[in-house]
Amino acid sequence: MSRFWNSNTRNLKPYVAGEQPKDKSFIKLNTNENPYPPSPMVMERIKGFNLDDLRLYPNTEGLVVKKAVARFFGISEDEIFVGNGSDEVLAFLFKAFFDKTTPIAFPDITYSFYPVYSALYEIPYTKVPVNEDFTIDLDKYPQEAKAIIFANPNAPTGLGIPRDTIEGLLKARPDTLVVVDEAYVDFGGESCVPLIERYDNLIVVQTLSKSRSLAGMRIGLAMGQKALMEGLIRVKDSFNSYPLDALAQVAAAAAFEDTAYFDETRERIIKTRESTKAALRALGAQVTDSLTNFLFVRLPGISGAEALAKLRQQGVLVRNFQSPPINDWLRITIGTEMDMKKVVEIVSKVIAQ
Ligand SMILES: Cc1ncc(COP(=O)(O)O)c(C=O)c1O
Repeated sequence: MSRFWNSNTRNLKPYVAGEQPKDKSFIKLNTNENPYPPSPMVMERIKGFNLDDLRLYPNTEGLVVKKAVARFFGISEDEIFVGNGSDEVLAFLFKAFFDKTTPIAFPDITYSFYPVYSALYEIPYTKVPVNEDFTIDLDKYPQEAKAIIFANPNAPTGLGIPRDTIEGLLKARPDTLVVVDEAYVDFGGESCVPLIERYDNLIVVQTLSKSRSLAGMRIGLAMGQKALMEGLIRVKDSFNSYPLDALAQVAAAAAFEDTAYFDETRERIIKTRESTKAALRALGAQVTDSLTNFLFVRLPGISGAEALAKLRQQGVLVRNFQSPPINDWLRITIGTEMDMKKVVEIVSKVIAQ
């Protein structure tokens, strides 16, 4: 603390990211990274990158990326915004569309960055309780909320909302901005990208950190109608004209172009998720029907904090959120098939102790 901190800085409760251990001896399943490397096409483009181009500032709007994303989704380039990870895209989005006069709402169990941005920008918010089974009921969201934001599939529960249900919300509340954070959608969720043409109150946020194995490059996207994207550009250009560096731009484009590798790796992760879920359930664990690259798990007869510590002792890093009602649940990222077999063995020992 310094006497120069303003009252906002003093009152901030910053987001706490999962641990990034220095040594690689852990089976690291605590931050929902992809266990497989980026597409070989990404490697090739990076190797072929002309270093001399680093003298120059990159394109301000990430045009190379937008072109590949537009082709992948069949949308137009002006319906896309790119940023330095979806966290930055979300930070711009909160600044561009919400303020003290626009109360927003999000589930009480969801990505814990939403309340952090709200506090940073002093945006009033309501946390709407999820149902007992962790499902989200969009009918419960207060009419006063000028915007609703949620992750779909949700984190850390892994549960998804069908696209039709979200379309019902968009239709019923045309004056409410709906932000769907699709960080995990490629592992089995239903994307709302096909709805952006029809609804001017929808923004979809995605990331290349999970299904495209590029967490270390920091690339995120927003998609929505042109006027919404222009709002994001105005805010971006008031912070930093070039959030996406030149190397990240070529890597991102390649990751979207190599659809075969994308499909192969996400299918492999889905298959491992399902076999791990079955094995953990057979051990007596409660496991939600996740549509993501992680499982949300409650081990029998052991608290969340204790399970986290025991797994760590055995070389497995997972995540636990010490906030009721999920304090006894663990979020376990899906690693390779081999990693997950080891994890199931270790979990079975921890339960037996
Ligand atoms: C729901 C959700 N949204 C957004 C992000 C941020 O991803 P990134 O900033 O790596 O794009 C995460 C990361 O874990 C997440 O879980």
